[in-house]
Amino acid sequence: MKRLLTVALLLTPVASAQAVPTLSRTEAETRARAVLSKMTLDEKIGQVSMAHFFRFLEGGRSGPVAANAGDSFSRLLPGAILNGGGDTPQPNTPLGWADTLRGLEELGRQHLPGGVPAVFGTDSVHGVGNVAGATLYPHNLGLGAAFDPALTREIALATAQDMRAMNMDWDFSPVADLGRDPRWGRFYETFGESPWLVADQISADVLGLQAGGVAATLKHFVGYGSPSLGRDRADAEISLRALHELYLPPFKAGIRAGAMAVMANSGSVNGLPVHASHTLLTDVLRGELGFGGLVVSDWNDIDRLVTVYKTHADLVRAAADSVNAGIDLYMVPYDVEKYAAALKEAVQGQLITQARLDEAALRMLTFKAELNLMDARPAGSGVLADHRALAKRAAAATLTLLENDSSALPLTRGRVLVTGPAMDSAAIQLGGWSVNWQGVGKGNVTYVPKVSTLASALKTSAPAGVSVSALPDGKRAALLKAAANADKIVLALGEAPAAESQANNPNLALPDSQIQLLRDVLDTGKPVVLVLMAGRPILLPEDLRNRLAALVMAYLPGSEGGAALADALYGRAGFAGRLPFTWPGSLGEAGLSADRPPEGAGETLLPLYPLGFGLDYTRFATSAMTASAVPGGVSISVTLKNVGEKTGTGTFIVRASLPPTGNLEAVKRPVGVVRAELKPGESRTLSLTVPAERLEAFTGDVFGPVTGSVVPGEYRFEVDGKQAAITF
Ligand code: BGC
Ligand code: BGC
Repeated sequence: MKRLLTVALLLTPVASAQAVPTLSRTEAETRARAVLSKMTLDEKIGQVSMAHFFRFLEGGRSGPVAANAGDSFSRLLPGAILNGGGDTPQPNTPLGWADTLRGLEELGRQHLPGGVPAVFGTDSVHGVGNVAGATLYPHNLGLGAAFDPALTREIALATAQDMRAMNMDWDFSPVADLGRDPRWGRFYETFGESPWLVADQISADVLGLQAGGVAATLKHFVGYGSPSLGRDRADAEISLRALHELYLPPFKAGIRAGAMAVMANSGSVNGLPVHASHTLLTDVLRGELGFGGLVVSDWNDIDRLVTVYKTHADLVRAAADSVNAGIDLYMVPYDVEKYAAALKEAVQGQLITQARLDEAALRMLTFKAELNLMDARPAGSGVLADHRALAKRAAAATLTLLENDSSALPLTRGRVLVTGPAMDSAAIQLGGWSVNWQGVGKGNVTYVPKVSTLASALKTSAPAGVSVSALPDGKRAALLKAAANADKIVLALGEAPAAESQANNPNLALPDSQIQLLRDVLDTGKPVVLVLMAGRPILLPEDLRNRLAALVMAYLPGSEGGAALADALYGRAGFAGRLPFTWPGSLGEAGLSADRPPEGAGETLLPLYPLGFGLDYTRFATSAMTASAVPGGVSISVTLKNVGEKTGTGTFIVRASLPPTGNLEAVKRPVGVVRAELKPGESRTLSLTVPAERLEAFTGDVFGPVTGSVVPGEYRFEVDGKQAAITF
């Protein structure tokens, strides 16, 4: 059967939603060409490099704009500037950011070729994380659990509006990598394990950011989420088949939504650093996926070909290979002079053609024209909107109830003791990329954001009949005495904040001290409600896990996490979240995923909690499942009824079983989600169109060739155990 090509029609219409770009690509490119045609070789070289903004601030570090910043612009000629995670101007206030960036923009207009300022990029990966006073949202993993792309889009829009208020142009977000190995330090930055479910989040994120006027970046292209042994930036072995079936869909979705930039994977795939891969950065990204925007490197990654990977003898050759592979803009970020010299030598030595340099510079200028940087723009207000309500709603949507024996929850009466290191810690609750790259309390910034903590929210919002005391876990004797007098104990444990390789957690473990605390508290014999704030599934010793009265996964819930948790623990709200990943029962099961194909020995590994799992205070029943062919795909419908006594959100993953294709296929492939909030007794018929591309099989011998097609045969769809089939 021929590949079905009408899929695009089924996707959310994008054109109307795109506030950026305001110029058409053709108009932008025409204006870019006019600027490019007057540029010297040095100016073009500057244009394709991204400098750290400390190069223009006083003392070369966090400070106000330097007196000689104009001269630095004339000398370095940067096409783009950025801050590192946690690097801020002075003062680090919304107004401080707005003034500094506006100042740098004005200097750029005066000192840079064609009067085109440098574009400013930053990592606002869960709100404007570097800015003191900003409200931070749950990290992506939690949003993955909400399975609500409309919410993701709303958060992205709010983030973009805050960024524009501070004159920021470009977000290094969203992470379109899959979370396939929970040991990996960036698992929490992903929306989860499942390609098409993540794809839906990625298009929403891109649409939201760009509707708010900033450029989105799909990162990190491609395969960054599967480093070997879960170690950040270790080599990933990826077959062509896995590339197409697993890793490309989120990027495809983001490109269709109009993402203006793609960032290259800082790691390596099949023994080649991605920054040197023409196959991935050009043939696949531009050829196969049709990406027409800007490709930016990751942090210092051309140098790292020489200094870390040792694939290249010197920066000249590394620059040549990387630029020829497809890197348009190099995130240097400090030694811009060294890169300029190397790139110049590569061009003069004809290792890079003039045409390739022109193409990269043209893409930079086009990108900036699309962002309106070629014209005078209104200055940002330097004032952030109050997003606490949105942050609370978002946190509430993520919370996932994994155990609730004999209805330990909700907490409706009696004496509740709350304790544990995560009960009142902004650092744990916000995770990495918050204030600092490695999180609150790391680096030399002492500022601690105000957050709604679990301890304070439980205390201030306790219903009549519940009394709450909060005790830190330090003084164990006093704590255990208080525990003996309590009716229930809420214990909040969590991972210390971290980012990238520092966040790798090879044992999926909490610190020993926290496990000891859990043991001590359980030994009181009182019912223990464990709340986990973590960026991944955590393995608890089985004997302790079995004794928990309730287990709540809160992910990294952000600024309003405490308030959202209190509502759910007190039963004022339900638990809307469902796991966006497979929760292993042991370290040996780490990396198990819902789309794992049959195994030769026939055994089925059962994870502790499967993808999509989550309990609530109510229950849902499904019925009347149908599947029918529609142009470009399959329309699924199913009736969902709330058969419990509380309002709740029913979320169910739609899974497909393919006919025999000649290759191993997932027993049940997740292809979409149906979801509704229903009152007790209410029922609703939900429908979803599954685009045909989600049913494609990538068949062929072990090394490829790989093209997807919907093979003829019977396709079975399943929602909550109900099935319907259609035959293509
Ligand atoms: C990360 C990117 C990030 C960049 C800029 C790199 O270390 O891999 O995700 O956008 O730094 O902070
Ligand atoms: C920066 C981060 C960056 C990282 C790259 C840090 O110093 O603050 O933004 O992602 O380096 O390794």
